[in-house]
Amino acid sequence: MKKQQQKAVNEKTATVTPEEEKIFNTLRASTWKEFSGQEGVKKNLQIAISAAKKRKEAIEHILFYGPPGLGKTTLAHIIGRELGVNVKVTSGPAIERAGDLASILTNLEPHDILFIDEIHRLNKIVEETLYPAMEDYVLDIVIGKGPSARTLRLDLPHFTIIGATTRIGMLSSPMRDRFGVIARLSFYSPKDLSTILERAAKKLGILMHDEAKHELAKRSRGTPRIALRLLKRVRDVAQVEGDGTVTPEILTRSLSLLDVDEEGLDASDRRFLLTIMDHFAGGPVGIDTIATALSEDIGTVEDVLEPYLMQCGFLKRTSRGRILTQRAYQHFKRPMPKQIEQESLL
Ligand SMILES: Nc1ncnc2c1ncn2[C@@H]1O[C@H](COP(=O)(O)OP(=O)(O)O)[C@@H](O)[C@H]1O
Ligand SMILES: [Mg+2]
Repeated sequence: MKKQQQKAVNEKTATVTPEEEKIFNTLRASTWKEFSGQEGVKKNLQIAISAAKKRKEAIEHILFYGPPGLGKTTLAHIIGRELGVNVKVTSGPAIERAGDLASILTNLEPHDILFIDEIHRLNKIVEETLYPAMEDYVLDIVIGKGPSARTLRLDLPHFTIIGATTRIGMLSSPMRDRFGVIARLSFYSPKDLSTILERAAKKLGILMHDEAKHELAKRSRGTPRIALRLLKRVRDVAQVEGDGTVTPEILTRSLSLLDVDEEGLDASDRRFLLTIMDHFAGGPVGIDTIATALSEDIGTVEDVLEPYLMQCGFLKRTSRGRILTQRAYQHFKRPMPKQIEQESLL
């Protein structure tokens, strides 16, 4: 059981196998037309792109935040393509020293984009080196040590940072303030996910009944990456157990094999809710206590598990901790204890 749950958590976090990588690359939306949903974000970006083109300048620094799998990396590549510039990809933990940053930045061409994934994990020194680079396109490098140390100022090409994070709260405010556009990605509607699935199925040559497509869209946790992963698994079942067509029956059977329930919750979601229900009487309970009980780190619980469960109304955040809702009890077909009912009204 534990293994199944761990797998479910991995599904939602970043671990992507090489084979999946290949499929995701084939499926990666590379134009606006292929990128469904997030209309507000799209509009803002399109304006920023047009403005940069008109002024013949590097586009403003952009920050994307939101749960994993919603399209942050994809958007960075679409922006690069629209502007006709290179997109160099790195991540917060990969830039260990100010010198690493200097060598990346000095190698950029004018207007290039540096995409920094997990930007909240940049270390302090690198972060502080980045400030003048973002603001004035200069880099102050300290050469030598002790009394003979001196600072050398390097001019940089006008470039753009696109940062991505699942944890906006962990970004320092001076860092946040240096982005001209800050965009929050939200969960996708079943309708948008249907469109994404339709396109992916076409690309992969998968025949899928409309009804199956809508059902899969509803059960993908509002997340394109999960929808695409499930589609791939469902295709396997369709090929092994049927003639390759994804019918509603095949879909139901595949999702039950994958332990994804009618609401799209998987084993790790259910374990999370049941832990609060059974061990903490439905809450309120602090996030660190839940994380310890689940042997998960707080980050995973806050970034990966909670946002969707909250959005669906299974869980509420109160000043006294997390508390389950009526809907969570209904989902597990259990009566809601009286004191929680009162507590959740507070
Ligand atoms: N709006 C969208 N339309 C179509 N495909 C999408 C969309 N958002 C994400 N995807 C697909 O979902 C997968 C995960 O997206 P990704 O950009 O890696 O998410 P993130 O960087 O936020 O974790 C990719 O294969 C991507 O092409
Ligand atoms: Mg990403």
